[in-house]
Amino acid sequence: MNQTIDLLMSHMSIRKFKEKNIEEEKVRAIIEAGQWAATSSHFQAYSIINVQDPHKRQLLAEVTGGQKWVTECPLFLVFCADLHRGKTSWEGFDPKVFGNTEMFIMATVDAALAAQKAFIAAQSLGLGGVYIGGIRNDLRKVSEILGLPELVYVVFGMCLGYPDEDPGLKPRLPLEVVYKTDSYDESTDAERIAAYNKVVRQYYLDRTDGKTKDTWSERCGRNMMAKTRDEIGEFLRSKGFCKK
Ligand SMILES: Cc1cc2nc3c(=O)[nH]c(=O)nc-3n(C[C@H](O)[C@H](O)[C@H](O)COP(=O)(O)O)c2cc1C
Repeated sequence: MNQTIDLLMSHMSIRKFKEKNIEEEKVRAIIEAGQWAATSSHFQAYSIINVQDPHKRQLLAEVTGGQKWVTECPLFLVFCADLHRGKTSWEGFDPKVFGNTEMFIMATVDAALAAQKAFIAAQSLGLGGVYIGGIRNDLRKVSEILGLPELVYVVFGMCLGYPDEDPGLKPRLPLEVVYKTDSYDESTDAERIAAYNKVVRQYYLDRTDGKTKDTWSERCGRNMMAKTRDEIGEFLRSKGFCKK
């Protein structure tokens, strides 16, 4: 349809990178593009940490369960939801409101929107990457490694670099399953998801020389149970989030 939509619809996570640094002006353009994301009430309630220290990278990779692209990628960004800046620079507020779950949602959404803009900007510059939710395996440790104050938490990391693989497009759900008109009509979802499960099974069979034959439903259920991160709620409250 146009170049922007073509770019958006050619997304694939990249986990293998060329040994080539990303030019500094490109790094800055990626971050600035992220900054131009829409933001709740102009709060800009996020911070982005570029982790360059190899030791810290190693520690963070360990937290993710040994995802080696965290140490191998030329650029590793950590996206934080950040209400700390607001608490220290906004005026005329009741500090208790920072503990509202609504504020937590706003900061988390702000971080995610900035990240996705940054990701797309990177892709437009010929780069590729992958989000790293695995960094939430131990938010307390990550918080210590990065020296995060109260009211800041890590939403996810992001590996970026020049791609050294072409993993192919991973099929998405049928549009009708995610896109509804006027109300949540799920009457045809089960049938469509059953068909989609077959597509995803074939995708994994093709990609793994027949070794993996997961459907989407099987894989999602397993992934969900693999890391339930039951301690995150308590950790967030200890950082001042989600008190009510
Ligand atoms: C918030 C978020 C966290 C993710 N965390 C990880 C991760 O820790 N490790 C990883 O290899 N991929 C991670 N991914 C990548 C997803 O697995 C990937 O986007 C999904 O399987 C779809 O594949 P695609 O991006 O190639 O289309 C994450 C993606 C998102 C959006």
